[in-house]
Amino acid sequence: MKKQPGWALPNLREAQKRTKKEAIIERSLFQIPVEVRDLGLGKKYYLRTYGCQANERDSETLAGILEELKFEAVETPEEADLILLNTCAIRKNAEDKVLGEIGHLKHLKDKNPDLVFGLCGCMAQEEEIVQIIVEKYRHINLVFGTHNIHRLPELLYEVMSCHKRSIEVLSKEGDVIENLPVRRFGKNKAWVNIIYGCDKFCTYCIVPYTRGKERSRYMEDILDEVRQLKAEGYKEITLLGQNVNAYGKDLKIEGGFARLLEEVAKIGIDRIRFTTSHPWDFSDEMIDIIAKYDNIMPFIHLPVQSGDNQILKIMGRRYTREQYLTLFHKIKDRMPNCAISTDIIVGFPNETEEQFQHTIELVKECQFDNAFTFIYSPREGTPAAAMEDNVSLEVKQRRLQELNDCWNEYAHEKNNAYLGQTVKVLVDGISKKNESILSGYTETNKLVNFKAKDAKPGDIINVKITECRTFSLNGEQV
Ligand code: SAH
Ligand code: SF4
Ligand code: F3S
Repeated sequence: MKKQPGWALPNLREAQKRTKKEAIIERSLFQIPVEVRDLGLGKKYYLRTYGCQANERDSETLAGILEELKFEAVETPEEADLILLNTCAIRKNAEDKVLGEIGHLKHLKDKNPDLVFGLCGCMAQEEEIVQIIVEKYRHINLVFGTHNIHRLPELLYEVMSCHKRSIEVLSKEGDVIENLPVRRFGKNKAWVNIIYGCDKFCTYCIVPYTRGKERSRYMEDILDEVRQLKAEGYKEITLLGQNVNAYGKDLKIEGGFARLLEEVAKIGIDRIRFTTSHPWDFSDEMIDIIAKYDNIMPFIHLPVQSGDNQILKIMGRRYTREQYLTLFHKIKDRMPNCAISTDIIVGFPNETEEQFQHTIELVKECQFDNAFTFIYSPREGTPAAAMEDNVSLEVKQRRLQELNDCWNEYAHEKNNAYLGQTVKVLVDGISKKNESILSGYTETNKLVNFKAKDAKPGDIINVKITECRTFSLNGEQV
């Protein structure tokens, strides 16, 4: 690939490095230079987010920066002077969606040569993808990664005022930048980052390469943010990290995530959630704190990935099937009403039918409330991508179907247990399917569509459940 002066391109080997150096906490790194203060005046931006909550939260920062530059948000790419795709690299189909969209929107750039068409997020951190973008998708004129969101004003200036193609992706362990602006998309529910990056290096996963090393925010910074959200009227916060259980280890914060959870709970915001918890370092103290505080929701996302010990070992998950089950039952014994969801990958390289059946047996034992199931997708640069794979796509698809049929049945059964019960629901808004119906989530994270009396978004109300489906509940406000 032809490197232009001023470009920085991603490098997977650099992205993999981990040193013992503590991450730098930057409190004044983000600045808007005088010459770009009005860059967006009279201009409109369209921002689309792919991927996980980390990307959702990053998009709120991107929107915050763009609005400080006086850009105005629009709902469709056709109206925009700036299109920005915040992308996800977790599986090939996630990437294909983005590449399809880039091709699909090319005509807008043909019509309007001044259009700024940008790509950021996890795909921008991938060597192979940026190479394709640079060479084949020439209408993309702005690329930046997850480590330099704060540079957006300068990068935009290069494109808009100097008419350059601007490509800057840093492959590094990462810092913690505390002074970024934010435009929250929700009025009642908010995301709160507590730890960035991931050091687990599960052998199939690209995230440790796209997001850098595990680095925690200081507890006081997090608590200040939560206090402010409460003062602004937010009802629910979700503490975010690729593995929230690792919170504080890098900063040697005593008590780690359990203590953070307790301090957040004491602030008294109505609902606290967290995601994601890696089963490996889920402590007993965490279970105690979740059980102790009513405002910590009885819902845990606990990805298992596989029910087979050999596969778990090759995945580098650091726990056995037995250890997972022990933790699962410990949580359930202590909090019988706690809902538990999971993630599962089928068709990991060379997974045998017997190994797959071990996963099915685990699902039958755990009877998860919800599951996110995926066919393994090789990610360039990860150890698993170099493993030869003897399982055909056909077999993988059949396994995925069998797995889905299995967990769906239990999820439906779990939901059936809600029939006739009255549950607390935080009202989100109007149901997608029927305008006379409102929707919201129970404490256990079940979607409820209900006939309202006087409820409005942001209220926490009682709803009597009248019908149970596999993926949602129906009811009436009482
Ligand atoms: N940090 C979280 C997971 C984030 S990625 C955790 O460890 O639980 C979300 C899910 O995507 C993972 O749990 C896994 O099930 C799935 N996933 C990750 N890499 C994948 C790959 N290469 N192919 C298929 N699924 C993958
Ligand atoms: Fe990926 Fe594993 Fe880290 Fe989760 S814990 S982000 S699956 S490497
Ligand atoms: Fe995707 Fe990056 Fe999240 S790869 S799942 S957006 S951390």
